[in-house]
Amino acid sequence: MTESPKPMKALILAGGAGTRLRPITHTSAKQLVPVANKPILFYGVEAMVAAGITEIGVIVGDTRNEVMAALGDGSRWGATFTFIPQDEPLGLAHCVLIAADFLGDDDFVMYLGDNLLEQDLGAFVSAFERARAGAHPPSAQILLKRVPDPHRFGIAELDDAGHVIRLVEKPADPPTDLALVGVYLFDRTILDAVRAIAPSPRGELEITDAIQWLVDQGKLVRQEILTGWWIDTGKLTPLLEANRLLLEKIEPRIDGSVDEGSVIDGRVVVEAGARVVNSTLRGPLVIGRGTVIENSFIGPFSAIGNGCEVRHSEIEHSVIMDGSRIHDIQRLEDSLIGKEAVLSRTQVRPRALRLMVGDHCQVDVE
Ligand code: G1P
Repeated sequence: MTESPKPMKALILAGGAGTRLRPITHTSAKQLVPVANKPILFYGVEAMVAAGITEIGVIVGDTRNEVMAALGDGSRWGATFTFIPQDEPLGLAHCVLIAADFLGDDDFVMYLGDNLLEQDLGAFVSAFERARAGAHPPSAQILLKRVPDPHRFGIAELDDAGHVIRLVEKPADPPTDLALVGVYLFDRTILDAVRAIAPSPRGELEITDAIQWLVDQGKLVRQEILTGWWIDTGKLTPLLEANRLLLEKIEPRIDGSVDEGSVIDGRVVVEAGARVVNSTLRGPLVIGRGTVIENSFIGPFSAIGNGCEVRHSEIEHSVIMDGSRIHDIQRLEDSLIGKEAVLSRTQVRPRALRLMVGDHCQVDVE
């Protein structure tokens, strides 16, 4: 394998308002919502480190305190973080613009902090490094995925040889179904591009327009089509889907205590300090540290956070964030429950609840 002359950097985008995950994102950063009990953002950091990239710039917005506290200095991943504040969500290309000092002249990966990918990015990164050392070095490399709803994404058009000829952001009439996945590789030319473009109709500097600018300047833009799954987790349904896909791959492990009256079935993780009493856990699922599950049924694709309490309840296909208490709920499905929320019911009725409950909320079901 050809060695790149300088190690690449990464720019992870963790600003943005997360309007489509309200009410959770009124109080929490969307990139910190957990899937399979790990903040979405951590998967991105781990993907960068696994690809050999440890010098990481992180764009932070209104939720900067929470994001910075969760990430720390990067030492737990063997990485170093440089936090770059973005005062207003002015677009993905604007993030590159304000990261110019951090990026210098280096090649870099830009990674959208709310994207989750199944595929390992090492091969994608080394393909770019090899192409950069070749006779026709590309200025950028994009990752594409065929999607059923292309009007929701940036879309690429290719010629017969597979070269990128046109990119368009959220077209009303999409020319193809090839969506731009939130992982991009760039050389320093992208800095000229982000300085040259004008804001889009939604008032943002679009990275899609900046890449189009590169194409217009005759620069080479490589593309690869993603084979594994990819999820833009900014909404409830894709978030629960990501939770499901990640739980399908967890390694079963019981570090907490499970009493004799309980039944464990399938891929189940019970973290240290958790207590399972007289309950059935049918995986894949994960129970966080210090959580108590009593007289309950926890069904497939549930991720119960740390320090939660679930008593006399049934939960399936849901994400329950840290410190929440769920009592006498028959039953809860397809739900996202924020941190330290309290859900309880005074009368038991055989009807399933589907809820999105914000942090610190209290819901009493009569
Ligand atoms: C952004 C990009 C879009 C890309 C998508 C991937 O969209 O503008 O081109 O396809 O991320 O997640 P946004 O999340 O800002 O709507």
